[in-house]
Amino acid sequence: MTEAHPIGLSIRGGVKVYPGTRALKGVDFDVRMGAVSVLVGENGAGKSTLMKLIAGVEDMTEGTITMDGREVRFRTKADAVAAGIGIVFQELNLFPNLSVAENIFIGHEPTRGGVDIDTEKQRVETRKLMERLEQDITPDTLLGTLRIGQQQIVEIAKALAQDARILILDEPTSALSAAEVEVLFRVIDELTAQGVGIVYISHRLEELIRVGDYITVLRDGTITGARSMEGVDIPWIVQAMIGSSSKEYGRSEVANFGPEIFRAEEITLPRMGGGFTVDHVSLSIRAGEIVGLYGLMGAGRSEFLECVMAQHPHSSGKFWVEGKPLTERDVPGRIARGIALIPEDRKRDGLIQIMAIRENLTLSSLPAFTKLFHLNLKQEAQTARDFIKRLTIKVASPENPVSSLSGGNQQKVVIGKALMTGPKVLLMDEPSRGIDIGAKAEVFRTMRRLAAEGLGILFVTSDLDEVLALSDRIIVMAQGRVTGEFPAGTDAAKVISATTPNAQVPKEAAE
Ligand SMILES: Nc1ncnc2c1ncn2[C@@H]1O[C@H](COP(=O)(O)OP(=O)(O)OP(=O)(O)O)[C@@H](O)[C@H]1O
Ligand SMILES: [Mg+2]
Repeated sequence: MTEAHPIGLSIRGGVKVYPGTRALKGVDFDVRMGAVSVLVGENGAGKSTLMKLIAGVEDMTEGTITMDGREVRFRTKADAVAAGIGIVFQELNLFPNLSVAENIFIGHEPTRGGVDIDTEKQRVETRKLMERLEQDITPDTLLGTLRIGQQQIVEIAKALAQDARILILDEPTSALSAAEVEVLFRVIDELTAQGVGIVYISHRLEELIRVGDYITVLRDGTITGARSMEGVDIPWIVQAMIGSSSKEYGRSEVANFGPEIFRAEEITLPRMGGGFTVDHVSLSIRAGEIVGLYGLMGAGRSEFLECVMAQHPHSSGKFWVEGKPLTERDVPGRIARGIALIPEDRKRDGLIQIMAIRENLTLSSLPAFTKLFHLNLKQEAQTARDFIKRLTIKVASPENPVSSLSGGNQQKVVIGKALMTGPKVLLMDEPSRGIDIGAKAEVFRTMRRLAAEGLGILFVTSDLDEVLALSDRIIVMAQGRVTGEFPAGTDAAKVISATTPNAQVPKEAAE
C-alpha cells in the first residue's frame, strides 16, 4: 500500500505558536499521492492550522516541510500554489458581488496576450468546471445569490481550476447536501486516479471512513493516531479524538410539553420571477418541545426561519408568541419578544470577526447589562465567561478576536450569543454544522436542557440521524411547502419520502 501511494509532501516536527496558544506541538504528517489522507480532531485541535502551514498561509514556527525529498519553505500562499498545492478553506472566501466565473479565477485570470482578462475563456472554463461538479450554475451568476452549499461548490471549483498536485479540502462538505457530497466524492476519485494527493478534513466521521485511505488524528496540537484506514471504525476515531468512547445524546425522558409558545400561519415568501420560496407554511411549537425541520437543500427551511426573524420585508403571514400576535417588524423587535435565530452562515450573519469573543457573545443582549445607560462591564464579562464554560468554547482569552478561534469554536460563540438574549423561541439553522462530535453532544444536551426549561426550539438540519434522534416532532418541507409531519420515533423511510415533492406523502399528525 505504501508503495502504491508515495509520499508527496511531509512535515516533520511542525510547531505553530500563536500569541497565547501553542496550536501545533511538534507534528509529523505525510500527504500521500493518489490517495486521500484524512485529518480529524476536536474543534481547536489544530487541523486548519496544520493545513495553513502546508498552504503557505501561516508561517511555521518550527519544523520542516519536504516535497519530493527536498526541503521547501512557503512564505506566501503564492509559493505553495507554485509548488502545486491548492486549498479549499473551511470558511468561504468568496466575493458576493462578483460573478461565479470571476470568483473562480480571481488572482489568476486567463489573459489575452498577457494583458486583457480573457473573460470568454473564464466563462468556458467555469462552464466545464460546473459540468464536472454536476451543477446547474451559469458563469455569470452573482455569487451572493447562490445558497451557501452552492457557494461551497464554487470554492471547490476554484481550487480545481488550479490543477493542484496536492489538494487540501478543509471541511468541504459542511454545507453540502447528500447528493452534492456524492458528486464531490466522484471528483475525488477521478483526482486520486490521476495521482493527485488529497487531504480531507471533516467532522462527519462516516464520510472520513468512506473517502479516506489514511487517517491522522490530532488532539490539542499533538498527533494521537496515524494509520491506514483499513479496519478503522467510528469508535476507534472517537477514542483517538477525545480519549473516551462515544458520547450519546438524544431524548432522555418523555417530555412534558407546556402550552403553545409559537405559532406561524400562512407564511409566504414570493420568489423573484414567480412562485414561492416559502409557500403558505403554518406550524406551531409548544413550550418544551424540540421540532426538527427536515428537508433537502433549497426546500425553503432557512428562508422560513428568516421570515420569523423579520429578515424578509416581502413575506406575509402571521406569527404569535405565547398567544399574542407578533407585530414587531424588525429584528430587534422580534429579539425583544423572545425570538432568537442561530444562522447557518456564521461568517456573514453571526459574528464580527475583529471584535473580541466577549463582545460578540454579548452583542445581542446589551440591554440586559445596561442599567440607566451604564453598561455593567463586570456582569457582562462574568456572563461571557459562564457561556464560554457552558459551551466548552476553547479560547485563550475572552478578549481575543473571534477570528482567532477555530471554525467550530466560532460556531459555539454564535450559539452562545443567541442563548444570551434569553429567548422563548429558539430557531437554529444547522446547529451542528462544523462542530466536533464531543461539542455536538454538548450542543444537543444544551438544546435538551433549554427545552426542559420551557423554550420552544425549531431547528433545521439536513442530517437524517440528527433529526430522528433529537426531535420531539419532525416537520418536513419540500419546495417551500410543509409536506409531512411526524411524531418522534417515526420510521426513517417515511420521513425521507416526504422530502421528495409530488410523491404520495403520508401525513401523520403529531398532535
Ligand atoms: N489567528 C489565530 N490567532 C490566535 N490563535 C489562533 C489563530 N488561529 C487559530 N488559533 C488557535 O489555534 C488552535 C487550533 O485552531 P485550528 O483552527 O487549527 O483548529 P481546528 O482543528 O481546525 O478546529 P475546527 O474543527 O473547529 O475547525 C485553536 O486553539 C485556535 O484558537
Ligand atoms: Mg478548522
